Amino acid sequence: MTRVQIDSGDFRAALSTFATGVTIVTTSDDKTGEPIGMTASSFNSVSMDPPLILWSVTKTALSAPVFKQASDFAVHVLASSQVELSNRFARSGGDKFTGLDYLSNVGGCPVLPDCIARFDCQTWQVYEGGDHWIIVGQVVNLEKRNDEGLVFSDGSYATATPINPDQKSKSQTSAADDSPVDNLLLYNLARATRQMSEQFHQAVRDSGLTVPAWRVLASLYGQSSRDITDLASRTFIDKEILKDLLDVLKSEGLCEVQLQHDQITALGTLAGHERVEHLFALGAEQEKSALRDSGEQGLSELIALLAEAVKNTSDRRPDD
Ligand SMILES: Cc1cc2nc3c(=O)[nH]c(=O)nc-3n(C[C@H](O)[C@H](O)[C@H](O)COP(=O)(O)O)c2cc1C
Repeated sequence: MTRVQIDSGDFRAALSTFATGVTIVTTSDDKTGEPIGMTASSFNSVSMDPPLILWSVTKTALSAPVFKQASDFAVHVLASSQVELSNRFARSGGDKFTGLDYLSNVGGCPVLPDCIARFDCQTWQVYEGGDHWIIVGQVVNLEKRNDEGLVFSDGSYATATPINPDQKSKSQTSAADDSPVDNLLLYNLARATRQMSEQFHQAVRDSGLTVPAWRVLASLYGQSSRDITDLASRTFIDKEILKDLLDVLKSEGLCEVQLQHDQITALGTLAGHERVEHLFALGAEQEKSALRDSGEQGLSELIALLAEAVKNTSDRRPDD
């Protein structure tokens, strides 16, 4: 076979016209357990069924031998805000993970936060590809959120702007267009509350608290004191039942109860605060996961809108 002579500079320059996304591929060293990662733009889809992806690693990369042997790897698709992270993982060698907040996935690969998608893969096949190894992975788990992706084009980082901004991608259009009820705020609120509560309330019960006790202790957390009317509004508990519950919580050292200006007033104790602290963190995690496609900004906007609705409507029940 005759070899066509291609000038490597021309080859590079022509390839750089092909805009790609940017990923960081991670794994852990089988022998040392050390976290390994590198920036890669060679990521691409291969097959839908089975779900396969590929990327290629230059044989001269320090991490190439580890990736070639690895049973698992994770591909993180970077957001446009993650240029610094991309540069960190484009450096050769050294501990690229120092000071980074990362977890591990089921395959033991480091998982980096705030990426727009992650593909957890098991190595399917490694092919020889000239001076690169072509690594094909079977996707066993994925995560995705809506945010702007980072682009690499012509040797520079960039962002992608839609040519027709009105033409939203399928994943960005609302799923709530099937039936009129799907567009009602109240319906979506009730359904989201029911589904999210199921999961969270189980965690509350697992921690040895009843849901009403959690509501009271959570309302008293970080507050100097609350009167019983305010507490009844916040916890949806009838005042008479609330009085009994406050007595129980007081006997367990979780709150103090006082009479101020003819009003029963409750105050959380340190022990009461400690009983619910981890549930705040867990609740925040579950909310983040439920709204993972909209990111943290979407979540805080939703909370602000609902707080506005709470402010603009009244709760008549406690005084009825
Ligand atoms: C945007 C970008 C994309 C890259 N894509 C790849 C790639 O697909 N494959 C590769 O082997 N190196 C790629 N690199 C270079 C590696 O990230 C770089 O060689 C890194 O230092 C390798 O780390 P290591 O030597 O610690 O293994 C890319 C670098 C950048 C900045």
